[in-house]
Amino acid sequence: MDEIPGAGPSQASSGQHSAADRDWWRGAAIYEIYPRSFADANGDGTGDLAGVRARLPYLRDLGIDAMWFTPWYQSPMADGGYDVADYRAIDPLFGDLAEAEALISDALGYGIRTIIDVVPNHVSDQHVWFQQAIAAGPGSPERERFWFREGRGPNGEEPPNGWTSEFGGRAWSRLTAPDGTPEQWYLHLFAAGQPDLNWGHPDVRREHEDVLRFWFDRGVAGIRIDSAALLAKDPALPDLPIQPLPGEHPYVDRDDLQEIYRSWRRIAEEYDGDRALIGEIWLPNPDRFVRYLRSDVLHAAFNFDFLTAPWDAEVLRTSIDTTLMMHGRVGAPATWVLSNHDITRPVTRYGRADTGFAFDRKRYGTPSDRVLGERRARAAAMLAMALPGAYYLFQGEELGLDEVEVPRERIQDPMHFRSGGVDPGRDGCRVPLPWDGEKPPYGFSSGDVDTWLPQPDDWASMTAEAQSADPGSMLSLYRMALMVRRTHPDLGDGSMKWIPSAPGVLAFQRGDSFINITNLDTDPCELPSHERIWLTSAPLEGGRLPANATAWLRPSA
Ligand code: GLC
Repeated sequence: MDEIPGAGPSQASSGQHSAADRDWWRGAAIYEIYPRSFADANGDGTGDLAGVRARLPYLRDLGIDAMWFTPWYQSPMADGGYDVADYRAIDPLFGDLAEAEALISDALGYGIRTIIDVVPNHVSDQHVWFQQAIAAGPGSPERERFWFREGRGPNGEEPPNGWTSEFGGRAWSRLTAPDGTPEQWYLHLFAAGQPDLNWGHPDVRREHEDVLRFWFDRGVAGIRIDSAALLAKDPALPDLPIQPLPGEHPYVDRDDLQEIYRSWRRIAEEYDGDRALIGEIWLPNPDRFVRYLRSDVLHAAFNFDFLTAPWDAEVLRTSIDTTLMMHGRVGAPATWVLSNHDITRPVTRYGRADTGFAFDRKRYGTPSDRVLGERRARAAAMLAMALPGAYYLFQGEELGLDEVEVPRERIQDPMHFRSGGVDPGRDGCRVPLPWDGEKPPYGFSSGDVDTWLPQPDDWASMTAEAQSADPGSMLSLYRMALMVRRTHPDLGDGSMKWIPSAPGVLAFQRGDSFINITNLDTDPCELPSHERIWLTSAPLEGGRLPANATAWLRPSA
């Protein structure tokens, strides 16, 4: 296997780690893989683990430190795998356990760690526990692992409370007995195929602790925790208060969660001290957010404040300042994220009139200026990579893929259906990657098949192959930027200080030898005094940095 200069974690199970190695997650570049759409080795139109294994050299050349896999477990795919039927089995669409083990170990050989997704808030309705609960009937101990309740109203025809699903519609579905009589209701904060677990039940805690060990034993370096702030519920299941105080919402950010994650942290610490727990935590209150990042709770959490921010210098500056100040209080590294499998692609979003992100603002036909969006996405990527902490990117972001308007009849995302078809859903960023060739499936599948989501006809210039040959492409920019990020001693984990600049400009220094300057203004701006230019996201204009561009500089001594 090839040697990777300056990379390569020592074998994760060796137990011989330097401090920098153990703390890899503090400054890593982490690439999110949506396995269904990365690469299809068996030619059935859906991505698989063999496809990822075959593309590991691409990931090594990109210069990432770790990959995070969205759920690869056995699942009926009611929510793209976030409905897990069996945590100890890989879905046959993707491969099998031996393939996952081989992938984890091959990747380490390329210097790439593996992070997996655990979805503790809910399971699939096909999970053995839920099937047992249905069969055992009302009042049974099997039902206590979930939230089964009688309905309200004279015949129980009203749901037990007024909670709504995160995907739209109500958060309750009613079972029907085999003889057709309506039965109890069960809670699902997401789709009906994702019943919520009762985290007050000891089996639920024990099972998840066991799942963590199962995968840590197989060499995974980290766990991304899905919907991490939603697990704990007020067992009284009251209707939502109008304005709940922090910690008093019946299911968001309850204090019980801290102890759950402390127990997970203790398990992670049993493994060489280098396994990381990364929470998906959407909370507007930064004080509450960083409680999850205390040194005995989680290691890191996604920075959704930055991710959802519009392309606006003051909003971004405030987000950066708040992030760094709040993370500094608990000694946790910040994370910088521009996209994931739930979010509108950056080139599309940054080309719109409203450049921020909110789920309830996604609508069909929103116009986007692609050229402007791409310029900003290039500048934003360099900005995010230069900030202190870890950087997360989502597959296809490095190709500058746009959000696809998937034809309605091909959409799979439950968010679309549960919105009554108003919300286009999240499939637009989940379209299979274009690797090479002139027409679909662009090398994604080994055969000439219809991919599980259709690819656009105009992606020939977006393929990894076409972009590799073009030094001005998005892929070339990501490769160069990630290489600088990986080798420059002042990047990744650490601190920064702002440099005085015009209001529409974000300029800061890392260490003694690195400056990032991002121009969000409409006019070009002067560069700070420098002796070298490492990289720019767009050509300079008469020595000045044009609008919507970033430059990385070595300051004058
Ligand atoms: C998280 C995932 C999302 C999924 C949801 C329910 O938000 O990122 O894709 O639908 O949880 O598991």
